Amino acid sequence: MFLLNTFIIKALPYLPKSFIRIIAGKYIPGTSIQSAITAVKTLNNEGQHATLDILGEHTSDIKKANQITENYITILNEIKKNTLNCNISVKPSHLGTDINSEIALNNFKKILSNINDNFLRIDMEDSNLTDTTITILNKLKNISNVNVGSVIQAYLYRSENDIENMRPNSNIRLCKGIYNESNKIAIKDNQEINQNYIRLLKLAFKKNIYVGIATHDKILINEIIKLINDFNIQKEQFEFQYLYGVPMNDMIALYKEHNYKIRVYIPFGIDWYDYSIRRIKENPKIATYVINNLFRK
Ligand code: FDA
Repeated sequence: MFLLNTFIIKALPYLPKSFIRIIAGKYIPGTSIQSAITAVKTLNNEGQHATLDILGEHTSDIKKANQITENYITILNEIKKNTLNCNISVKPSHLGTDINSEIALNNFKKILSNINDNFLRIDMEDSNLTDTTITILNKLKNISNVNVGSVIQAYLYRSENDIENMRPNSNIRLCKGIYNESNKIAIKDNQEINQNYIRLLKLAFKKNIYVGIATHDKILINEIIKLINDFNIQKEQFEFQYLYGVPMNDMIALYKEHNYKIRVYIPFGIDWYDYSIRRIKENPKIATYVINNLFRK
């Protein structure tokens, strides 16, 4: 597998864009807002909720950061107009933290002022942005506590403390974490990450925090379902989340059998190419998933 990953990463610059598009196409419904809305409608009709993410990150141009903000507001309006079960997921660096965090904060505030009764999830990026993201989150929570939430990454040692410091009625997405972090701040061993995932989930439930359980790891999911049953956790306290295009049919059937809420994270937009390349380079494991899943139905 290591050799396959290395080969794919080295070959990336030589692969035609059309080939990468085929790979990305499985994980992205399209480039337009309409293509994303159509995907949401289909999933809603199958009883699944969604969250929409405009692809892109590390915006260095203020005009572009403002445009992305407007696009998110358009999405919120479309969701409302079509009465969809769908919220939004936004990356702080997409709204301008690289330019300066005040610009990003103001853009988040604009989005929040158009949120109505919907929900804004602030995605968590690499550890350079964790503190900035939590500061932005808390400032937004001062405006509207229940309409905004963030993400906790189980691979970070600091996450336990971050959950401990959360306000009542918080709402998190719990994931393993995608970025390549130093072993000084992050757990590297997958089994240990899973153990920490369970520890953090228990802590969040104890603190009555609503959790979006975001993982495709079937062993971990089965352990989580056992925990939910053992501790008699109410369905109103969690949902299961997965990424659009990742084959999860068996797990979806299981979630439906238990009547659990399911949410699909749908990234879309014109920045699909850079996003796909960066993700594959950042975490070569993705290259393996992509290749494996390409040949799966
Ligand atoms: P693991 O990596 O062990 O994968 C388990 C299995 O799932 C793999 O063997 C493979 O079959 C499949 N799989 C996993 N990822 C796949 C992919 N991309 N394509 C195809 N198959 C895949 N991270 C972060 O740092 N900040 C964030 O804000 C978010 N947000 C987020 C939202 C949602 C809804 C999900 C599901 C995930 C994220 N992540 C994230 C990514 C997350 O941190 C993590 O890197 C991936 O989900 C992979 O970890 P798993 O828990 O799926 O386990």
